[in-house]
Amino acid sequence: ARITLRQLLDHAAEQGYGVPAFNINNMEQGLAIMAAAEAVDAPVIIQASRGARSYAHDIMLAKMIEALEEIYPQIPLCLHQDHGNDEATCATAIRHGFTSVMMDGSLKADAKTPADYAYNVAITRRVVDMAHWIGASVEGELGVLGSLESGQGEAEDGHGAEGQLSHDQLLTDPDEAVRFVAETKVDALAIAMGTSHGAYKFTRKPDGDILAMQVVEEIHRRLPNVHLVMHGSSSVPQTMQDIFNAHGGEMPQTWGVPVDEIVRGIRHGVRKVNIDTDCRLAMTAQFRRVGQQARAEFDPRKFLKPAMDAMADLCRERFEQFGTAGQA
Ligand code: G3H
Ligand code: 13P
Ligand code: NA
Ligand code: ZN
Repeated sequence: ARITLRQLLDHAAEQGYGVPAFNINNMEQGLAIMAAAEAVDAPVIIQASRGARSYAHDIMLAKMIEALEEIYPQIPLCLHQDHGNDEATCATAIRHGFTSVMMDGSLKADAKTPADYAYNVAITRRVVDMAHWIGASVEGELGVLGSLESGQGEAEDGHGAEGQLSHDQLLTDPDEAVRFVAETKVDALAIAMGTSHGAYKFTRKPDGDILAMQVVEEIHRRLPNVHLVMHGSSSVPQTMQDIFNAHGGEMPQTWGVPVDEIVRGIRHGVRKVNIDTDCRLAMTAQFRRVGQQARAEFDPRKFLKPAMDAMADLCRERFEQFGTAGQA
């Protein structure tokens, strides 16, 4: 059954759990998420980026989600636009059955200026008005995703933005967060605490200097009733890096966000936890393994089935760790 982000996160706040938001690009990822949800009785957030929508086509995605609901009728499902960049992206998502959209007005801002803040408030507020007329939810974002180690923020393409930003410029300012929520009326707020997108978040196991979970705690103190969202929340498990590299892969050693830090966030208002990289790595590590172990294999299902199973295992583990299990 299709539900909005607001409905799901209100329940999560009442019961004190978090919900992983997994990205979808194809059928196998959809089946993996739903098989895991069914196994542990968890509600799901499935999110599609702009890239996913153009890769799979809006109509394919929309009908695939309908099919997943028909196969798994007892699992509450929120379909969310990840990193919407403007009003049109959000409006067309809702037309295709998305019950929630992210209007990421922080995408344009690679430095924190008053003009960037005003742009973010204005466009987010317009999307909130539009979405709420139709009954969809909106996630906004304040702050710059990027590395506190390098001082690099992320540009719109997910690569490093020009110029060094200080700690304070990268992290979400709690005072500004209070204003932003009042001015935009978003249903959920993504905040920056030192994570970044992709596999290469940290060059060592993160401590409080480079993963600033205290910012989450401070914002939750100021905004106890606001649903917080963590982006860049893949943990990049060592076991997955090892499988990938044991079979011809050449990923440099890297560290993601430790699951216990996410669980700490969930105790302080984090309700939606965005995970894409771990799903990608779970799958492609299996592609490599099968490719190397079964060199004569040419049936794509022999690659895709273990990949799907590995992603389902990852999803199930996160449902259990975040307390989503048993909440469907
Ligand atoms: O925010 C980034 C997500 O991981 C989606 O990535 O734009 O490559 O689909 P994508
Ligand atoms: P990861 O790259 O850490 O999986 O983050 C995904 C994300 O934030 C999608 O919006
Ligand atoms: Na999102
Ligand atoms: Zn993100």
